[in-house]
Amino acid sequence: MAIQLKSVTKAYGTGEVQVKALNGVDLEIKAGQFVVVLGPSGSGKSTLLNVMSGLDRLDEGKIVIDDYKIHEMEDKALTKFRRNHVGFIFQQYNLLQTLTVKENVLIGARLVDDPFDVDQLLEDVGMDAHAVKYPFQLSGGEQQRVSIARALVKRPKMLFCDEPTGALDESTGKNVLAILQKLNRSYNTTVLLITHNASIAALADVVVKMNSGKIVDVAKNTPIDAKELRWSE
Ligand SMILES: Nc1ncnc2c1ncn2[C@@H]1O[C@H](COP(=O)(O)OP(=O)(O)O)[C@@H](O)[C@H]1O
Ligand SMILES: [Mg+2]
Repeated sequence: MAIQLKSVTKAYGTGEVQVKALNGVDLEIKAGQFVVVLGPSGSGKSTLLNVMSGLDRLDEGKIVIDDYKIHEMEDKALTKFRRNHVGFIFQQYNLLQTLTVKENVLIGARLVDDPFDVDQLLEDVGMDAHAVKYPFQLSGGEQQRVSIARALVKRPKMLFCDEPTGALDESTGKNVLAILQKLNRSYNTTVLLITHNASIAALADVVVKMNSGKIVDVAKNTPIDAKELRWSE
């Protein structure tokens, strides 16, 4: 999906303690692009992602995703929009501890009419041999791969990833990024990935830099393969 933001603002709190988390953000993303958002802690990266998906309301400005005018939509419509079109991956995996790997992914599948085949997807993320295990029996990287499968089983046209490798070591992090890259390329899924690890920008078609609630730089990039990535924190 193509994404367009115009003069987007979002503040938290009021008066002297007000924080302008987004302070006039313009951005254009084309369908199928892999976008990496960099910036220091507190610069507004998560807020940007949350207002795009309608998880959080913007104060002013416009957000248009394909034909959806996010800034005009009611909560109910936003929930439906998110359910049908957006996959989320967070630093915390948020798996249901009482369900197996496969059952966790099935939950995502039941949200939509036309999900991917769960077994095939578990194979794609290299978790087919772990299908009947519970989250506590898995490493962090394995849990993150399950959360990727859960997000992707819905066939989302957009994937929003907030620090997806933040809790992972280098080789596991690279594996996870390789999966995201493959999905972006095979299904033309638009990917927005937030990170504070600048080396991950090498995977992007577009690198967006944020500071103090503003976009301070947008640069095109020729992406490298995830396995060629050189990691630095
Ligand atoms: N729910 C909230 N309530 C109050 N302030 C918030 C909330 N969410 C974010 N902020 C503030 O907005 C600013 C941007 O936060 P955030 O978007 O989380 O930044 P980043 O993801 O780049 O670290 C920060 O100053 C943060 O403290
Ligand atoms: Mg954040």
